[in-house]
Amino acid sequence: MSILVTGGAGYIGSHTCLKLIEAGHEVVLLDNFCNSHRSVLAGLEAIVSKAPVDEAPAKKAPVDKAGAGKTGMGKALVLVEGDVRDAGLLGQVFAAHSIEAVIHFAALKAVGESVQRPLDYYDNNLSGSLVLLKAMREAGVKTLVFSSSATVYGNPTQVPIREDAPLEATNPYGHSKLMVEGILENVCQADAAWRVARLRYFNPIGAHESGLIGENPQGVPSNLVPYIARVAAGKLAKLQVYGGDYPTRDGTGVRDYVHVMDLAEGHLKALEYLHAHGGLLTLNLGGGRGYSVLEVLRMFEQVSASPVAFEVVPRRPGDVAECWADTGAALKILGWKAQRNLATMCLDTWRWQKQQA
Ligand code: NAD
Ligand code: WQD
Repeated sequence: MSILVTGGAGYIGSHTCLKLIEAGHEVVLLDNFCNSHRSVLAGLEAIVSKAPVDEAPAKKAPVDKAGAGKTGMGKALVLVEGDVRDAGLLGQVFAAHSIEAVIHFAALKAVGESVQRPLDYYDNNLSGSLVLLKAMREAGVKTLVFSSSATVYGNPTQVPIREDAPLEATNPYGHSKLMVEGILENVCQADAAWRVARLRYFNPIGAHESGLIGENPQGVPSNLVPYIARVAAGKLAKLQVYGGDYPTRDGTGVRDYVHVMDLAEGHLKALEYLHAHGGLLTLNLGGGRGYSVLEVLRMFEQVSASPVAFEVVPRRPGDVAECWADTGAALKILGWKAQRNLATMCLDTWRWQKQQA
């Protein structure tokens, strides 16, 4: 299949592009690089060609009329540098490539920032999705995998969280995801030809085992594991542990961490399912168990053999005590279950972190 991957240069997108290419699909990667780096392409090329990263083909490539740049991977990966809200560009992309399905990662994702800049979040996440859906309808492409989030469960009333748990938005980011989930439901109700998966990720961490691609956010990370990795690497002084008085086993927040390569494999399985069955699919993708902040920190210290300094500070507003997924539906429907444990997640993050300048 030829698959359009919006936000494909980002953290989860880049690992999913790799899995798609390895499975023999052709990928058209659309990204505006607002939260990613062009260097991810060299990493992808090096992994696919199994060449050292500095021997990978050139990063910059000529761009054709549809905005598509050659990447050194031929038809396996075509880069389109642009914005998912650009309807004209999307029309060109669908006209130039025989796209059969879309995976829509492109979005802004920082909860705190969404409270500060709600309009930017609705513009990017909501308008971006609407423009994309309309372009897909125009092009007759009706298969979509959408990146949703555990944030749609708001303050969960019980754990583990099943897909039929109450939904709630506690911030503009979460609201944007819930709204797009609702739009997708309406679209599927209106036209049975649509095949849509809404995948609710829990806490993705880790990196490809090569250490050549990983999570590389612009600026100081707000998520736990990238922050810990930078403390272990000596780039940040100490971790602030947000809250030591939660009703959890050690007082710190408990979350469901899932390896990004497991997530990438989940996307492949979701696409295969949609291809075979159609309909609207809504699934949690998580590891299915919870780890506390201190458990993650200790594991990171162990695998990196580096101390991670920390101090316990007051709770971060909006955080919940614990959150982890019931992943039974993903297992039953897709045959998907996360395979990589916390040690692997931390080790792979560390291998990637060590290669950063
Ligand atoms: P990311 O920021 O690394 O990747 C998003 C990519 O989209 C970036 O490369 C960015 O440059 C691009 N992008 C953003 N807006 C764009 C636009 N308007 N046009 C084109 N490109 C644009 O984030 P990620 O962690 O890979 O997340 C991917 C998706 O998964 C997002 O939709 C996010 O909301 C969702 N999600 C992420 C997490 C997480 O913790 N990482 C958890 C749940 C859901
Ligand atoms: C994990 C734990 C913090 C940073 C967020 C979004 C969610 C989803 C995943 C996109 C919590 C603690 C963190 C730090 C800390 N993203 N922590 N010090 O908050 O579970 O989820 O990312 O959809 O929607 O809300 O992830 O990595 O920020 O925090 O103590 O410097 O680590 O309190 O217990 P979170 P996180």
